[in-house]
Amino acid sequence: MKIPINTFIRNNGQIPLIHPDCLCRVVWEIYVLIITITITISAPLRVIFLELDTTLLLVCDTIGMLTYIFDIILKFNTGILQHLEVVTDRRIIARQYIKKYFLWDIIAAIPFTWFFSASGMESANTLFRFFILFRLFKLVSITSTLQRAHRLKFIKPAFARMILLVFWILIAAHLIASGWILIDGPRKEITGIEPTPNSIYLEAYYWTVTTLTTIGYGDITPETSTQFIYTIVVMLIGAALYGFIIGNIANIIANIDVAKSKFRERMENISTFLQYRNMPKSLQNRITKYYDYLWETRRGYEESEILHDLPALLKTEVSLFLNRNIIERVPIFKNASPEFIREIVMNLEPVVYAPGDNIVIYGEQGSEMFFINIGKVEVLNEDASIYYATLTSGQFFGEIALLLSTPRTATVKAKGYCDLYKLEKKTFDSILTRYPDFAKDVEKQAEDNRRKLGLT
Ligand code: CMP
Repeated sequence: MKIPINTFIRNNGQIPLIHPDCLCRVVWEIYVLIITITITISAPLRVIFLELDTTLLLVCDTIGMLTYIFDIILKFNTGILQHLEVVTDRRIIARQYIKKYFLWDIIAAIPFTWFFSASGMESANTLFRFFILFRLFKLVSITSTLQRAHRLKFIKPAFARMILLVFWILIAAHLIASGWILIDGPRKEITGIEPTPNSIYLEAYYWTVTTLTTIGYGDITPETSTQFIYTIVVMLIGAALYGFIIGNIANIIANIDVAKSKFRERMENISTFLQYRNMPKSLQNRITKYYDYLWETRRGYEESEILHDLPALLKTEVSLFLNRNIIERVPIFKNASPEFIREIVMNLEPVVYAPGDNIVIYGEQGSEMFFINIGKVEVLNEDASIYYATLTSGQFFGEIALLLSTPRTATVKAKGYCDLYKLEKKTFDSILTRYPDFAKDVEKQAEDNRRKLGLT
């Protein structure tokens, strides 16, 4: 079922569901994300700096709470994606939500601040102010929004992961710094300057970062038992986190350009092998140049390897797209029927030849013909003393041996790097019988070439 994005999903007379990918849903999720980040930053600060408990923050908290309640209602009314299909069964949607995020979302939405005001408790003097931290449970469910970042087309998955990692590290550091202020962690003595919430927070964040990253300058050190215990815990978290972060960053960097790192690894293996087997320098250079060409023209990817895993229909579409150049270039393909083009495209195999390579050798038995995609080839006689022709993009060769089952009538040599498409004899024969127009063109070309060679 394909549901157009930007619409509600009608559900057999029931209240319509919201499409999970519709624009309003995405905007709403971004809004919830911003509110959650604001509350994650402000809630711990309200707990530590009592003077910050202003009306503005109370208003923010109320907006946050109302947002979270509305978000719960929306989640029960939004379709979910399963195997790229939108599930519209309300029972499944509810079950999934309750199983995953409902508990965290409901705790985050409880109006604690209202309870305090209603009960007349001075939030500043009671432990109740800690309840505001329950809002942070919303971080659990916004992970699903953050996961969506992976699906954004304009950002590489590796970069998205990097941004997420930095996001979580900053949040963790903020919470740890807040904890340090709460247990009244020591401050650097700066005479004559009255500490402000800003300077206290900045120092605590500085202490957190130096401890978490295991740098630990030692300029701010614990003094009481509680501070020592807190520092030990943060150091342990830091040690574990450090390994995790370094491992992740190494992995992310390696994945930023998978093609390049894979290709580089392949090149290193090849050059080690060439050196180990004492290959002549000139040969080594030719091989390196060949791989450079492969990198330049196709980023080292093997077309056939990628096509191999695709289902038949997709394979045809991809082949048609990849081979559109050759179809446009070869005159005999230009006006051919779509069935013929499809069949040809599915059976053409891309091959690359380096300068000076003999693609076809005079007198050998031929089992394939070639279409030139990019590059030039020279047609020569047996000992390369007579030059017959230069063929270029859009032309083909090797058809005589296939048509007449005779040995090759000439040697064909690559002039520079050549991107060719190879068509095997078996396919060639079966296509000839079914597509007489193609057979006529190829036969005409073969006849011309044979005449030029003085064979008819
Ligand atoms: P085949 O004999 O299979 O292998 C060598 C190919 O060179 C041959 O098919 C033709 O496609 C091509 N060829 C031979 N002679 C000429 C020529 N004079 N001009 C262009 N192409 C030629």
